[in-house]
Amino acid sequence: EELHKKLNDLIATANEKQQEELKKEFTEFSKIYQRFLEGKSSRIQWNKIKQLSDDAIVKYENLIEPSISDHAQMLNKLVVIKLNGGLGTSMGCTGPKSQIVVKDNRTFLELTVEQINYLNHTCNVKIPLVFMNSFNTDDDTENVLANLRNPNIFLYSFLQSCYPRIAKDTLMPIASTSDIKDFYDAWYPPGHGDFYTSFWDSGLLERLINEGKEYCFVSNVDNLGATVDLKLLNLIMNNCDECEIPEFVMEVTEKTRADVKGGTLILYEGKVSLLELAQVPDENVNDFKSVKYFKYFNTNNLWISLKAINRLVTDNKLNLDIIINNKSLSDGTKVIQLETAVGAAMKYFNKSIGVKVPRSRFLPVKKCSDLVLVKSNLYENENGSLIVSPKRTFPNTPILSLDEKYFKTVAKASARFKGIPDLIELDLLIVTGDVTFGQGVILKGTVVIVANEGCKIDIPNGAILENNVIEGDLRI
Ligand code: UTP
Repeated sequence: EELHKKLNDLIATANEKQQEELKKEFTEFSKIYQRFLEGKSSRIQWNKIKQLSDDAIVKYENLIEPSISDHAQMLNKLVVIKLNGGLGTSMGCTGPKSQIVVKDNRTFLELTVEQINYLNHTCNVKIPLVFMNSFNTDDDTENVLANLRNPNIFLYSFLQSCYPRIAKDTLMPIASTSDIKDFYDAWYPPGHGDFYTSFWDSGLLERLINEGKEYCFVSNVDNLGATVDLKLLNLIMNNCDECEIPEFVMEVTEKTRADVKGGTLILYEGKVSLLELAQVPDENVNDFKSVKYFKYFNTNNLWISLKAINRLVTDNKLNLDIIINNKSLSDGTKVIQLETAVGAAMKYFNKSIGVKVPRSRFLPVKKCSDLVLVKSNLYENENGSLIVSPKRTFPNTPILSLDEKYFKTVAKASARFKGIPDLIELDLLIVTGDVTFGQGVILKGTVVIVANEGCKIDIPNGAILENNVIEGDLRI
């Protein structure tokens, strides 16, 4: 009741046109808020988790390769969707993450457009490329997309919801007007689980179905390994030897010790489901992180039937598990934002499976060390997709650990690399302290560089470091 009153007060501050929009948005928000109050957040009962059956996870190698003559008609039923609501704040950028420059002076967004453009051109097909933007990313994204349009690319976007943050103590929205600009911190995009209702609400889902599209491939915009794959498309269109046609396919990959936080697949109450760290009871967090019990994690590359999405949203069936995200605003106010994850919908589809894909399909950029890796000569840009350079002869990619104090933001990290080092033969790089890299540096094997407190190390132009430990104060 109190919430309704507060939401109505907020609606009253908007103009007539905006009021309609807000009412729709707040109806959805009220549903998730109600479930939150009823304690239906998503902590699971640990002892109810069951092992997945053998056919719940299919191996990519066992998928059927469709014949070339079928490619065009298959691709013409596909829509590619990029989750583009997030900012690059964790890497110190103020704009959309998709506008960070990654390779050959091009951004995630530009490379993604290039990928689909190339596919449309070479296969003579019309795959729409759809961006889900948030109020944080919409203006900037639209400005860039306007300059990228051409006859081979069919660009669309829709806006995800904008929900009010609630105060941790009163559980009431902290906004006093509905205008985001009045108090930016009072609002948030409620996670990528918002995709289903926002896509449906935008009218774009219906329009694409009416145009003959049947499946979508959804992925994070910063995962340049998430390319259109015909074996996976064939799986959701036609099936494979091991299983009947699924409505929902989640690409999972083998967990390493670096991926302990990623969501994993479990069998829960008879359904293949996604389990996120936020849902794990505190006493089971270590079990969750174990590589032994939970071998795979979600790449967020999803192949979904459009008709199934339409059915589930229309029937109001998607009650996605709520992730409670506690935050502190810059003025110290403690707030809660209620979020959902796109993969959590898995359990509601008629048949959902996981496919174990090669690690190369998961190439996220979360930290500046990831950015250095993808910018380096270890990856090559092949028509908008990043592939590991054929010069790399080891199967694994190097591990980079860069000191947070000096390399946390893109601006800081860029200032420390006059050129991105050659990483083709690198296994491990650890950098601690005030370190800079000159141009044409080559790193091989294991390299550890430690500039102690008050010291500085400048790696000179053209230096070759192979299985070196450098410590102390080196100014060259
Ligand atoms: P996440 O925020 O889940 O993961 O976004 P992340 O990029 O790993 O973020 P951090 O660094 O852990 O915080 C995954 C994808 O989903 C999009 C983002 O733009 C990104 O492509 N996303 C996220 C949305 O589109 N909307 C949201 O509300 C949240």
